[in-house]
Amino acid sequence: MTTTGKCPFEHIHDLAEEQQQIAETAELTVKLLDKRYAPPKQMLRGVHPKSHGCVNASFSINNDLPPELQVGLFATPGKTYSAIIRFSNAEALVDKPDLNEDGEHGSRGMAIKIFDVGGDVLQTDGNANNQDFLMINQPVFAFANMRDYLRLNRILDQDKDIPNRFFAPLQLNSSSLTEEQKRHILDYIEAENITPEDIQHMAATAAIVNGIKTSKITPSVGNPLGAQYFSAAPFMFGDNKVMKFSAKPIAPVPPLSPPPAPAQDYLRAALTETMHGEESIEFDFMLQIREDISDVDLEIENASTHWPENAFPFVKVAKITIEAPQAEVTSASHVSKCENLVFTPWHALVEHQPIGSINRLRRAVYQASAEHRLQANSPTLPFFIRWIENAFKFLFG
Ligand code: HEM
Repeated sequence: MTTTGKCPFEHIHDLAEEQQQIAETAELTVKLLDKRYAPPKQMLRGVHPKSHGCVNASFSINNDLPPELQVGLFATPGKTYSAIIRFSNAEALVDKPDLNEDGEHGSRGMAIKIFDVGGDVLQTDGNANNQDFLMINQPVFAFANMRDYLRLNRILDQDKDIPNRFFAPLQLNSSSLTEEQKRHILDYIEAENITPEDIQHMAATAAIVNGIKTSKITPSVGNPLGAQYFSAAPFMFGDNKVMKFSAKPIAPVPPLSPPPAPAQDYLRAALTETMHGEESIEFDFMLQIREDISDVDLEIENASTHWPENAFPFVKVAKITIEAPQAEVTSASHVSKCENLVFTPWHALVEHQPIGSINRLRRAVYQASAEHRLQANSPTLPFFIRWIENAFKFLFG
């Protein structure tokens, strides 16, 4: 069953404009995939294409949950669900090393799929009612809203996947710019109708991206199984509360930091080694729950908003257990099954509806990315049809 929930905390400024922005971002996602993965390459995800591995897990609701936390997935204390978790790099280009020679890195992802949760869901997963929780290892998302994210995607499309021009307006007052460079930036600001508020978001994005690269926001990761991950964006918790969620390892998982001269895929190597060992891994799954009436305070429409833990502490609601050993993590059939999985925040119980501009954008974009890559990789689609389609696109735009 597909339901569209209603959220009292969302504020859509201009619905028609928003629908246009969503449609254009979905279109650009597919276009970028076609450029990155011309046949015979296997087409990977729109972002998070690089997997460190998928592990089987169980997701158990804590026994001691007070009644006010028994909502949606957490309605039955003590209940255990089976789950699968995919660990990834957020970086859109699959060949980037986990850590570059300057010690800089991108964001890491943890996507949990909890199977057969029953209840009413916003979007079914095939025929199943599954609950997906998608997280990155920072408590904030680098882009405030869909307007900013669309502008980034236009630049990735025009500039061969290089995002730098997104930040050009921040350079406008730099004394090192020539008059011609300034004019280009001013033309860009005018063409994209960039407002002072957009520039403020841009500065926040630059600070977050820099904080991620240089480990100022969260420590650099030695093992994907040992990092803390966050939803960053907000979700409903029942009818009149909102939540952000996080998964945090209960005990440290070695190695605690990257090796001195890390290999290109050092994170996959660390995960594989742990999953070939005997030590099971546990994460606490935790929620920040808020019921503020003031939407200014909640800032639902800005996914770069931080909810400080000292003001809004996380509450433990479930435990994730990843039993070891799972030697199959590297088997070809397991890797292929994992690559064909589809995660989206909209595989969700109605009680956990994704909210805010970035989350509304995600609905169509994840669907476009998943449908496009699964169709492109499908053995039933004759290879030459895709080849001819791409040749036409290349020749005639
Ligand atoms: C709070 C913000 C976000 C978080 C925490 C997040 C997290 C993730 C994670 C962990 C994955 C990997 C899922 C997997 O392993 O299959 C993923 C995939 C993806 N994300 Fe996001 N993401 C966020 C925002 C966005 C936005 C704004 C967009 C674009 C509109 C986006 C587009 C995608 C796409 C296209 C995929 C691949 C979908 C597929 O082909 O199956 N994400 N995201």
